[in-house]
Amino acid sequence: MLAAVCRRSALHSFRLTSQISARSIVTGSTVFASTRVRLLNSAGFLRQPSSSPVSVLSRFSALRHRFSSTTVSASVEQSTTDRASESSTSAPILPTPGVGRWLLLSSTLVFAVIVVGGVTRLTESGLSITEWRPITGVLPPLSHDEWLEEFEKYKATPEFKLMNHSITLSDFKSIFFWEWSHRVLGRVIGLAFVFPLAYFAYKRCIPKRLTYAFTGMALLIGAQGALGWYMVKSGLEDEILTTPGAVPRVSQYRLAAHLGTAFLLYVGMFWHGMAIVKDSKYANGKAWSGLVVNGKEGVQKMCESVSKALADPKVKGFKRLSWALTGLVFLTALSGAFVAGLDAGLLYNEFPLMGGRLAPPVDELFSESYAKNLDKSDIWWRNIFENPTTVQFDHRILAITTYTSTLLLWLRSRSPAMRAALPPLTRMATTAAFAMVNIQALLGISTLLYLVPIPLAASHQAGSVALLTAMVHILITLRRPSAAARYWRQLKLQSARSAKVGGSAGQ
Ligand code: HEM
Repeated sequence: MLAAVCRRSALHSFRLTSQISARSIVTGSTVFASTRVRLLNSAGFLRQPSSSPVSVLSRFSALRHRFSSTTVSASVEQSTTDRASESSTSAPILPTPGVGRWLLLSSTLVFAVIVVGGVTRLTESGLSITEWRPITGVLPPLSHDEWLEEFEKYKATPEFKLMNHSITLSDFKSIFFWEWSHRVLGRVIGLAFVFPLAYFAYKRCIPKRLTYAFTGMALLIGAQGALGWYMVKSGLEDEILTTPGAVPRVSQYRLAAHLGTAFLLYVGMFWHGMAIVKDSKYANGKAWSGLVVNGKEGVQKMCESVSKALADPKVKGFKRLSWALTGLVFLTALSGAFVAGLDAGLLYNEFPLMGGRLAPPVDELFSESYAKNLDKSDIWWRNIFENPTTVQFDHRILAITTYTSTLLLWLRSRSPAMRAALPPLTRMATTAAFAMVNIQALLGISTLLYLVPIPLAASHQAGSVALLTAMVHILITLRRPSAAARYWRQLKLQSARSAKVGGSAGQ
């Protein structure tokens, strides 16, 4: 992939070799210069046989002078707070679509690791590897003796002693497989993220601000590995054996933190990946979320300017609602992790009622037996996070609220006023989100009614990522093109126009 990503830059570098002096005089920045040459090239500057480095430079300087004096600063949609308004002479770096594809691939891998993690938990495989060896752990036991040694370590765990004392070596191998796959996939994600990041940063394919953000994500991947081990450790503690009623399973708090971090990583990668791919298309003259400026494209909606269309109070209100709904989906998913962590899906296997009533009795929802403080002051939060009945009830309430809010958002997107105001792609994305929340609710209800079968529960977990993706996609359609994308689009348009004017004047 890297080769494909940078093939274009290599091509530009080749074209630039005869113009090194021009490049250094103009900006001193390779990325900027190569993009300029692309623009000049698309405007016909470099295709002309007579285009010597000197003539290219003088034409570009004239063009550049025209842009920086009036046209670009007036027409590039810059706000005073905008980073692009720094000055019309410092051109922003526009990451190549390859950078976006790398981020989207990374988010797909995170999606996969979330699903594998879910299956690992559902097959009760998560406590089968009793050590954390970030480097050497990549190799599973290779000989029979090594397998026996690994099995012996597992035999010392509370899970084996309390629940799995009759499992055979071959059963152990199958639970080991899931946990090992989950951990190996985590490492693959780390490598598939860090190496391209280093490469893109070195080649200056990404602006500094994004380099910092992506470095933060790389650190978060590492932290996620450590958090995963911290979670597993909670299920290996020996005190589980001596605590009355304790079950050998990981802490629901740590499970929710591990899942929540995975969701955040996923959203960060998906968001930036989509944003970069979209920005790049916009910079190349394509429509934005179906809104067309400066040209015609199919049956898409024409607008005076994307910023103006997105600044409509109705659109802004819709965007605020979409943000709130995305937060709600995230919260519902986190509450689902508590249901999963406490095996609360094995209670009240009916819907919409719980024990024949809309809600379980209050003394069951807020049972004193969960409070640990002498004055019972912790009764509320302990029941909310530790009582399986309350945890399941909360998940239902949040899920029903999520469902209803998504339905309302969808209905709103279909009202005549919103139809006129919203970008076409936003309406499609809202419909997709509504379709997804239906699937997700059906999967959740089926998981509950059928006592958490692995295929349904794993699909329900995958569905939560898909639903979050659908929500984030709505927000992406309502995002303004980046300052860099706006800048390069204008520059490209201007150079195309100048080339046209130059061409007709020459005739
Ligand atoms: C509509 C939005 C919903 C979202 C975003 C959502 C999300 C989640 C998530 C992320 C999990 C954790 C899965 C895991 O860690 O394995 C979960 C578990 C669960 N959810 Fe939902 N859920 C939704 C709706 C529902 C509904 C309507 C029900 C049915 C009442 C439901 C029932 C369950 C059950 C029983 C589990 C536990 C499954 C297990 O033990 O693996 N969910 N949910």
